[in-house]
Amino acid sequence: MTMSVKSALEQRTAINYFDASKSLTEQQIEELVRLATLAPTAFNLQNWHFVAVQSDAAKQKLHAAAYKQQKVLDASVTFIVCGEIESHKNFDRVVKTLVERGGVSEADAAVWKGKVVATHENNPTTQHAEAFRSASLGAMALMLAAEEQGLASGPMSGFDPAAVSAAFDLPATRIPVMLVSVGYAAEGNYPQKPRLDVAQVLDIV
Ligand SMILES: Cc1cc2nc3c(=O)[nH]c(=O)nc-3n(C[C@H](O)[C@H](O)[C@H](O)COP(=O)(O)O)c2cc1C
Repeated sequence: MTMSVKSALEQRTAINYFDASKSLTEQQIEELVRLATLAPTAFNLQNWHFVAVQSDAAKQKLHAAAYKQQKVLDASVTFIVCGEIESHKNFDRVVKTLVERGGVSEADAAVWKGKVVATHENNPTTQHAEAFRSASLGAMALMLAAEEQGLASGPMSGFDPAAVSAAFDLPATRIPVMLVSVGYAAEGNYPQKPRLDVAQVLDIV
């Protein structure tokens, strides 16, 4: 049975307590990331990277870098969702897929790449902004995918980015943006927190 996006949004909560006895298969992890990467990115940059922290040793390293948040140890897996800041240098791999599988002509793909380079080269502000946008959209899509698969998730920015980068040998161009723990909820979690009224956060102009 599939879940509507509306239900996933209404049911998802940030899980703090996970059942430490449960694990996910590699196939489940790959499917979550496949679905997450269906999120859109500017220019289809796909300027993201996911590190699935699942082994006990890797969890211990991430736990230390995430201010000892217990859910990193207890969740089946915690994804380090990263944004890439020099994706314009690596855009040829996207161009290849656009031409071979996306129905885009070589000429159009060259124009496409030109725009990517023009907007990103020598523009660290844009590179960082796009890295954070893409990783955040990917993280949200991953959480909705987890919900639909009957799993629970918990997003985190409570970590030391330099410590995470060092612990997992991330290249300097790969910025850890968000941690997302995924697994099975244990007892004691809060329900979804109340939200401000729509009228408080919406102007229709
Ligand atoms: C970007 C981001 C960072 C967060 N960082 C943490 C964190 O480090 N530790 C934590 O326990 N919860 C963290 N949370 C969870 C939020 O506190 C939670 O989503 C919020 O209170 C709303 O709760 P709900 O999602 O269950 O409605 C984070 C959420 C987001 C979106």
